[in-house]
Amino acid sequence: MDYVEAGSFAEITLKENRSDLDSIRFRERVMVDVSNRKLSTTIVGSAVTMPVALGPVGMCGAVWSNGEILACRAAQEFGVPFVLSTNALLSIEDVAQSVERNFWFQLYLQKDRGFSKELIDRAKAAGCPVLVLTMDLHVEGIRYVDAHNGLGAPPKLTPANILSIVSHPSWAIAMLHSKRWTFGNYADRAKPGNVKDMAKLVRSQLDPSFDTKTLQWVRSLWPGRLIVKGILNPDDARMAVDSGADAVLVSNHGGRQLDSAPSTACMLPRIVKAVGGRTEVYVDSGVRSGLDILKFLGLGARACFIGRSYIYGLGAYGQAGVTKALEILREELSIAMALTGVTDATEIPGDLIFRGPREPVEPEQSATRRSNRKQEKD
Ligand SMILES: Cc1cc2nc3c(=O)[nH]c(=O)nc-3n(C[C@H](O)[C@H](O)[C@H](O)COP(=O)(O)O)c2cc1C
Repeated sequence: MDYVEAGSFAEITLKENRSDLDSIRFRERVMVDVSNRKLSTTIVGSAVTMPVALGPVGMCGAVWSNGEILACRAAQEFGVPFVLSTNALLSIEDVAQSVERNFWFQLYLQKDRGFSKELIDRAKAAGCPVLVLTMDLHVEGIRYVDAHNGLGAPPKLTPANILSIVSHPSWAIAMLHSKRWTFGNYADRAKPGNVKDMAKLVRSQLDPSFDTKTLQWVRSLWPGRLIVKGILNPDDARMAVDSGADAVLVSNHGGRQLDSAPSTACMLPRIVKAVGGRTEVYVDSGVRSGLDILKFLGLGARACFIGRSYIYGLGAYGQAGVTKALEILREELSIAMALTGVTDATEIPGDLIFRGPREPVEPEQSATRRSNRKQEKD
């Protein structure tokens, strides 16, 4: 579970995602009839039963055998979207063959542009209506825990890992029946059975060169809805929308990329101010309860994506665990709405938040400081 839990470097951003959400206070309202509360809404035009989507999580199938299919089924039965990661263990086709309704696909741009295009074409062929393009992984943030644990596909067999496997026998037996143990979307690109080669290939395909032109290229290839994920700066949000994004997903990758980046709670209102009039804005990183969802809605998000909170459910009870996690979030959100006098998740009062998260330094102030220092030197 370290793989799921960890953040990058000193995990400052991982912790701040939570502490900033915890510091937010609601304005309580009691003079309102809240007997009927509507949680349903739309995300890029798709109807959802609550303002939540299951975000992309790589190697989901290592948490529970065929985890991608199980999480997708749980999401579909609940009425929320499931986003399949490029780096899932099961391929786009594996999942498409095993679920009844459509799912969304997340793209990590590959250095080999022909392969990026191939992934886009495969997602189209599988009937995915929405592409989530992750822009915050030009290079990978270092997660020391993963390096220490010998994480990979398959994992290194250290004494600690062997002990962990034998002390979870039902997981280990279930894993023996997995459709795949390696990165399914890359299966045709490495020698069959050569897992080491494949893990190397996945790493080597990370592309540090992508920019707005690459986003425009993806836009030209993708006819469906396009969500740009990993936005944490209002300027990047404007550039994404100018380049054809249908929506932006404010995210710091759950504290797994740039450590000491601000929390998403801190940056969300600025990004909503920058592009909220032109496009829908979603957010992730740190959602652990329905109250967190309402806080993010109060800060201007239309919906939240979740990562660890559904993966914990998956790791505990497979598909039933994901369903349980979604049920808990729904109940908590509904209670929080009732106690704040909110009856419709699409009509959040502008004054719902009594106290917001910490204020960032205004860029103008930073500029003044720099010029002051220059003057001192002069
Ligand atoms: C174990 C793990 C694997 C992830 N893999 C991916 C991935 O393959 N693609 C991606 O865009 N984001 C990935 N993410 C980031 C999530 O989509 C999401 O941004 C993050 O989990 C949100 O934070 P939360 O876990 O606090 O909800 C991953 C996150 C975790 C925890």
